[in-house]
Amino acid sequence: GNEDVLLAIESTCDETAAAVVTRSGRVLGECIATQEKLHEQFGGVVPEIAARAHLERILPVIDTSLHQAGISGSDLQAIAVADRPGLAGSLLVGVVAAKSLAMAWQKPLVAINHLHAHLYACQLSQSRQPTTSPQSAGQPDSAPDSTSPSTVTTAADEKGDTSVYPAIGLIVSGGHTTLYLCRDAIDLTYLGGTIDDAAGEAFDKVATMLSLGFPGGVAVAKWAEQGNDSAFAFPRSMQHDGSYDFSFSGLKTAVRYAIVGPGRQDFSSLELTDDVKADVCASFEAAVVDVLVAKSRRAISEHGVRRLLVGGGVAANRRLRRQLTEAAQQDGFDLVIAPPELCTDNAVMGAIAWKKIDRGEFASLDLDITPGLQR
Ligand code: KG4
Ligand code: ZN
Repeated sequence: GNEDVLLAIESTCDETAAAVVTRSGRVLGECIATQEKLHEQFGGVVPEIAARAHLERILPVIDTSLHQAGISGSDLQAIAVADRPGLAGSLLVGVVAAKSLAMAWQKPLVAINHLHAHLYACQLSQSRQPTTSPQSAGQPDSAPDSTSPSTVTTAADEKGDTSVYPAIGLIVSGGHTTLYLCRDAIDLTYLGGTIDDAAGEAFDKVATMLSLGFPGGVAVAKWAEQGNDSAFAFPRSMQHDGSYDFSFSGLKTAVRYAIVGPGRQDFSSLELTDDVKADVCASFEAAVVDVLVAKSRRAISEHGVRRLLVGGGVAANRRLRRQLTEAAQQDGFDLVIAPPELCTDNAVMGAIAWKKIDRGEFASLDLDITPGLQR
């Protein structure tokens, strides 16, 4: 049709992604190249490796999404790119690509805050099958897939933002654990966030301690389902400190000590039987979730809002979803969790760029990256 379309580019961490999204939120083309396999052996994302992989993949990923949408650069209304926060080298690849294409195709440029986009995903519904990798990116974890259908996402808020805001926004990902007061999609006030590890990072580190692979959040959650969540008394750091900040590094250390030493009375290592592993995972998961739920609840009540938006990879966690659902029922607020496919990093949530376009908020061609979180 003749609907306006934009190209959104995402390269803040370790996914290289592009999407072609219409003004009404339909996804005409989408491609994601994940780097999980490249970082697995290191038990975490290695910034230099991430940047290099983005560089190799960004143009094929963009090409694939445009091709899937059946359009060329000249058909675009704008080019949007996440310029913050993230790994410097990773951000740079996306921003330089977006600026170059904006210049070559003479299109306006829009800068996206990646965390705002994670929360905007709560407004997008999901019924699509992204192409999982570029056809021409020759990495081991990017199997060519040229037959993936181009399909559709529709915005849940066609009536406008008023149905969703004001809200509290909780982002729980591998890189971030953050609470915002959201007045609308792009007017957000930072309330607090982690002062050390992100929640997903803590899951990944516990997974590594138990040799469950990387990223290990899903594996830890799976083991946790079989375990006793009060087998270990792990700390709920900062739960009652009155702030909206989080800390998970003490919890991670407590788990380590429970497994290998000084925290245990006999100073020996635990024998990691399946039962013990499950108990460690369940007790750890409960500690993380308790704090996330307690602080989100307090943010809701202290700000007098009626809705909680949740995004980021850890939002897929079942215990978190269950406890948030219970809290929502008890306290009487609406809970909106992003669709699972839009919880992890993707470019479709770059549809938030339309909100900026509507307000005339464009970036100039000397746009620079902003790796750190702006409070
Ligand atoms: O949003 P995301 O792709 O990360 C960043 O943008 O940084 O989320 C990935 C994170 C990883 O740390 C992963 O272990 C965690 O989300 N994760 C989970 C679950 N699924 C993914 N953590 C706990 N339970 C899950 N079910
Ligand atoms: Zn993210």
